[in-house]
Amino acid sequence: MKDVIIACDFGSAQQALSFLERFGGCPRKPFVKIGMELYYGAGPDIVREIKARGHRIFLDLKLHDIPNTVRKTMQVLSALDVDMTNVHAAGTIEMMKAAREGLTREDGSRPLLIAVTQLTSTSEERMRSDLLIDATINEAITHYAACAREAGLDGVVCSPLEAAMIKERCGKEFLTVTPGIRFADAAADDQVRITTPARAREIGSDFIVVGRPITAADDPVAAYMRCVKDFIG
Ligand code: C5P
Repeated sequence: MKDVIIACDFGSAQQALSFLERFGGCPRKPFVKIGMELYYGAGPDIVREIKARGHRIFLDLKLHDIPNTVRKTMQVLSALDVDMTNVHAAGTIEMMKAAREGLTREDGSRPLLIAVTQLTSTSEERMRSDLLIDATINEAITHYAACAREAGLDGVVCSPLEAAMIKERCGKEFLTVTPGIRFADAAADDQVRITTPARAREIGSDFIVVGRPITAADDPVAAYMRCVKDFIG
């Protein structure tokens, strides 16, 4: 199940597709993450097009709304045949259950569904002052992960450095999908809590999400294959 997901953070369909064309001769078809920027700019057609080219897709739209709206939206995303999508755990267990119901197709199959716990951009101070959550960030993250598990979700997005703590609370089958990946010899960019693909493997991440170390590399295919070798072996 372990895989490397490339964050296709491009502003237009054309940029995303010409980037993916570079992987034509690659021995592996990359699993691709489509985020809000690309989805809202290019619309659902970009999902259909990338899917038609044989890539698996993580549609990272982080839904957070009333349960009925989330259920209906997830029905639409499920019909797009994505492989993984997500919601904010802050939407409550009821909302996460509704998301799961909406995603489930008539034959019982569905894309993987994961939750965002606390965004990595949220500090403990901000959580306390802006969100009035009087817990440590690790308590909040593990509690939200446990709620996602109770709602029947498959896992969470988290920092690779939180993966072990979450597995301990929710079980080793509970998936951890981890951004914040950098090669040891590269720039951190704006990421703070980072680790290497090899270390993410040791810690127990199931999927790593890698953007700029691949998208901004001189040779993206070589950078991708380096991630695959270090993370999957
Ligand atoms: O370029 P980089 O490797 O930093 O990209 C990481 C990707 O993972 C981006 O699409 C970013 O939005 C996403 N992400 C993240 N941290 C989170 C959740 C998502 O970096 N907590």
